[in-house]
Parts: sequence; C-alpha cells; structure tokens
Amino acid sequence: MRDFLPIDRPAFVLAPMQDVTDLPFMRVIARRGAPDWFVTEYFRVHPDSCLNRYILRSIVENQTGRPVFAQMIGRDLPSLVRSARELASYPIAGIDLNLGCPAPIVCRKDAGGGLLRTPETVNRMIGILRDAIGGKFTIKTRLGYTTADEFPKLLEIFRSHAIDGLTIHGRTVAERYQTPVHPDYVQAAVQAMPCPVIANGNVVDVETGVAYLAQTRAAGLMIGRGAIRNPWIFSQLIAAFKSESALVPSYRELWNYVLELYEELALETVKFNPLAHVQRMKKTLAYISHGLEGDFEYDMRRAKTPEEFQEICRQHLDHDVPLPAKPPIGSKLFCGFEALGVREP
Ligand SMILES: Cc1cc2nc3c(=O)[nH]c(=O)nc-3n(C[C@H](O)[C@H](O)[C@H](O)COP(=O)(O)O)c2cc1C
Repeated sequence: MRDFLPIDRPAFVLAPMQDVTDLPFMRVIARRGAPDWFVTEYFRVHPDSCLNRYILRSIVENQTGRPVFAQMIGRDLPSLVRSARELASYPIAGIDLNLGCPAPIVCRKDAGGGLLRTPETVNRMIGILRDAIGGKFTIKTRLGYTTADEFPKLLEIFRSHAIDGLTIHGRTVAERYQTPVHPDYVQAAVQAMPCPVIANGNVVDVETGVAYLAQTRAAGLMIGRGAIRNPWIFSQLIAAFKSESALVPSYRELWNYVLELYEELALETVKFNPLAHVQRMKKTLAYISHGLEGDFEYDMRRAKTPEEFQEICRQHLDHDVPLPAKPPIGSKLFCGFEALGVREP
C-alpha cells in the first residue's frame, strides 16, 4: 500500500461496495477524478468457490490507470489460500481480507465481521495468508464485533503480522452503518501500526474528510457512500490539499453522472432487461437522490420503466443550481457524519 501513497497529500480510496463498485462504476467515477486505488467488491471464498467472473472484469479490464486490490471474504483457510494464489495471476495491486461485513448471513458463517468474535482465528488466518501471499496483503476491519473495547486485542494481532496496510471502518459490527465513527481508535492504530492506516466511515464531503484525517492522522481516507452520492469527492479532496479551488457540481452535472452510469451499466449487463435495469439503478439512486430539493427522491422510488426514469431525472435535474455539499443530518442512509465536526485542511 505504501507504494501507492501520494507523497504530498493523504491517499483517497474508493471503498469496496457489493453490487456498486464494479467496472462501469469505476469508469464513471474515474472520469470525475480517480481515487488513488480501488478495492473490488468481495470475492466470496468457500470450498466450492470459483473466482466470480464479473468481479474479475473490474481487475482485468480496468483502464482507469489506478491500481485495484482484490478483496476476499470467507473463513475456510485452504480455500482462502487457493483463491489468493488464483488472484495473484491477475493484474492486482494486492489482496485485501474483509473482516468487517456486518450482514447477518455472513456473520453467522463466521466470515467478514463475524470473525472478529474469535481473535485467535483472525490471528491464525492472517498468519497463514501472510505466508501464502507473495505480494501485498492488506486488511479491512471494524473496531470489534460488539464493542470497541475489543479493538486493542485485535490491534495487537494486526501489529504482529507484516501486513502492508490496514483500513479501519471506525465502527463495530453491531453499529452497522448507523452511528458516528470513533476516530480515537483509528488514531491509536495509526500510532501503533508500522504500515499505513486508512480511515473509513462517514466521509461525505471535504469538511468531514479533512476532519477525520485531522482527528486520526491516518495516511488516507476510504470513501464509500459519500462517493456514490458525490463522485467528484476525490478531486475535491485533492484540490483542498493543494489549496486549489474545487468543482462545485450542479444538478445538471449530477444528471450527466446518472445518465452515464445508466448507460455504462446497461452495456455491461449480459441479459439486459429494461425494467430490471431501472430497479438496479434505483438502488444506487437511493444514495444519490437522498435529501435533494423537490420530490426527486420520492418520484424516483416510483419509477418503473426506463422512460419514467429518464423523465424524472429530466424534471428534477435539468438546471444549474449547485448541489448541497452534505446530505441531510439524521438521515438513515448517512448517519452520524456531523459528529466528525469541521476542520480546515
Ligand atoms: C452497498 C454497500 C456495499 C458494501 N460492500 C462491501 C464489500 O463488498 N466489502 C467491504 O469491505 N465493505 C463493503 N461495504 C462497506 C464499505 O466499504 C464501507 O466500509 C462503509 O460503507 C463505510 O464507509 P462510508 O461511510 O464511506 O460508506 C459496503 C457498504 C455499502 C453501503
């Protein structure tokens, strides 16, 4: 990870997001200011698994010029080692291990965030994977399963292995996505770890990003939902650290982004079905439309056909008013970002 850190500013990374951060999304984001690296949505690994071909395309056909880490999720050690070796034959920047997914179906199988309940398993898993992976090996974790008091023990484990990077989503698994993050624990990891630490969670704009960095001294930020909502966030953060003026996108620029995503995703969909495509787009639009003026969000939830989808976008987005920098406070999709406060770069 150190090789990919910019020398004059923190790193900005697009978060892995299931059913979002695929090849078309990476392309569309990169056109608005690429992150320093990408991480794929996770490859599910188990004794019968093969590498998912669609996710592989975000590695093999990546033309953004930015490195891509391949993320794995699973608990079966021989399968994780096998998949890591298979992934090594593709042009990846490294392998990332998911220790944070809070989905009940994942945690019940003791994978993702569920692994944090058994630190000794985490220790064994990281040790075996570190020995098996010749290239870069990074970890993406939460602060613990039930409480952040679990974090010091986990941090000791992360410190004891020669991992190349640690990304911390500053919440516990129990906190899912609904609370403020805990920058003090991320800061403790920054001080303790010999490798770069990337802070993640609740960055929605330049102010919250700068505040999270100031509170943690992390080597960079990973941004997920905030980048779906505002794909210019990487270029805006870079501009802030270079003391340059940043683009303030308008509703019309958001419209172009939505149209581009609609078309790029349609092109990559094998069995294209217009109605299913609208439903797929609406999942992503939930993050984009949330809190925008007028009834865009409400109308979009009711769109069924491509014609309705396009007409709703035209009605609400065809104007030059600047977009709000932040989503509304107290919303379900973006919770607790205001607790990060506001700091100058
Ligand atoms: C729709 C969605 C899918 C996600 N899928 C993954 C995933 O595949 N792997 C992973 O490590 N984290 C995944 N996450 C978690 C994000 O990478 C990130 O840690 C989390 O959203 C907090 O960052 P944010 O506040 O910037 O969104 C997902 C999050 C969302 C919202």
